[in-house]
Amino acid sequence: MSLVGPKSQSLQKRAQNVLPLGVNSNFRYWGEGITPYVDKAKGAHLWDVDGRRFIDYRMAFGPIILGHAFDEVDAKVIEEIQRGALFAMTGELEVEVAEMITAMCPAVEMVRMACSGTEATMHAIRVARAYTGRDIILKFEGNYHGFHDHTLWSTYAPTESYGNARSPIPVPASSGIPKSMREFIITLPFNDAEGFQRVMRSYGDQIAAVITEPCQGNCGAIDPQPGFLELIREETKKHGTVFILDEVKTGFRIANGGAQEYHRISPDLATYAKALGNGYPVAAFGGAREIMSIIGHGVSQGGTYTNNKAGVAGAYATLKLIQTQPILKTIEQRGKRLMDGLKEIFEDNDIPAVFSGYPAMFSFAIGVEAVTCQRDWAKSDQDIYLALVEKAIERGVMPDHDAREPWFLCYSHSDADIDETLNVYAEIVKEVKK
Ligand SMILES: Cc1ncc(COP(=O)(O)O)c(C=O)c1O
Repeated sequence: MSLVGPKSQSLQKRAQNVLPLGVNSNFRYWGEGITPYVDKAKGAHLWDVDGRRFIDYRMAFGPIILGHAFDEVDAKVIEEIQRGALFAMTGELEVEVAEMITAMCPAVEMVRMACSGTEATMHAIRVARAYTGRDIILKFEGNYHGFHDHTLWSTYAPTESYGNARSPIPVPASSGIPKSMREFIITLPFNDAEGFQRVMRSYGDQIAAVITEPCQGNCGAIDPQPGFLELIREETKKHGTVFILDEVKTGFRIANGGAQEYHRISPDLATYAKALGNGYPVAAFGGAREIMSIIGHGVSQGGTYTNNKAGVAGAYATLKLIQTQPILKTIEQRGKRLMDGLKEIFEDNDIPAVFSGYPAMFSFAIGVEAVTCQRDWAKSDQDIYLALVEKAIERGVMPDHDAREPWFLCYSHSDADIDETLNVYAEIVKEVKK
């Protein structure tokens, strides 16, 4: 079997006439003739246009927390959209969703909703700048906070271009980002406690916000070192800087209260999307009442689709299930079994692999001993990782093609799916070792 079938290949050619690269997001392009095109998905499984079935570990890059086409969520969405999809007026359901988010997420007293993670972080940055009256944002290399110009710096450029770790050069991740934006961004390696303290000592009073993912969900799920998130909390408090925790990937996935609950960390603002709606377009940002209360008082925030009914109903049904059933605990148990099983396979084959992240969202870097930042991760053996991914896909198991992207689990992954995945990896790890 090859990586993709003839129908994917011909749909790619057709799509490329009308869509740049033949896709609607650069991340979905794997290359010429090797980019899969999807037909449908149900539960933990996905079928491509050639009718091939995969155990899906991409989960749409994280949103699918319950399972694809999850009946209870879809039924609520259908019920609600049949009563009108959009009103430019506030309804009770979105108030209930806001109440659920504030009840579940310890540091969140008030929220505003949005449709994507990009919007959520963009709005949070606006609010942080407005609250502090400052312009500069500090972000960490390898973190991704969406497509807006404010933080699309030092995300996935070759790390050699980042300069010395003591005085990093922020590198824009795209042409088209105004050079003048450079003035407003400071980048640092993740987990560099000493560097962070040094920068905060020199510039803390000019920094509006420090934004970080709790673990590097867009770069091999690199874990925060013990004390690093706490240090960010302490230093930002000291300098009157807003601490924004980007929970777009971790929120409603690693614990009911996300990374705030898991790491017992209390940011000023947090951002959510993805698992909040099990695939429907919904996002939120929120935090301390004192900060959020400035919205509407000289601070702009809004959007035509921010309370779109499909997204709001998707969030309502998803949160209700997560709140009332041990869903995330179940995912955690199955994810742990998968992580442990994979670890054992690499150990049995004497291949060094560093596992990181959470059972519901994990990664591994091959051929390195320790990874604490993107600069370390870049030294891992991505060729072997990719060779394994391609062999796994040929056998019906689909992690993402990009080693930076974690494996995502959902409630619908069964023990049988995990067994099948482990059997496939046991075979293919032996093959690549030869
Ligand atoms: C941590 C994080 N923040 C923000 C975003 C942007 O979210 P969206 O793709 O919904 O705009 C992403 C997307 O992957 C993300 O992982």
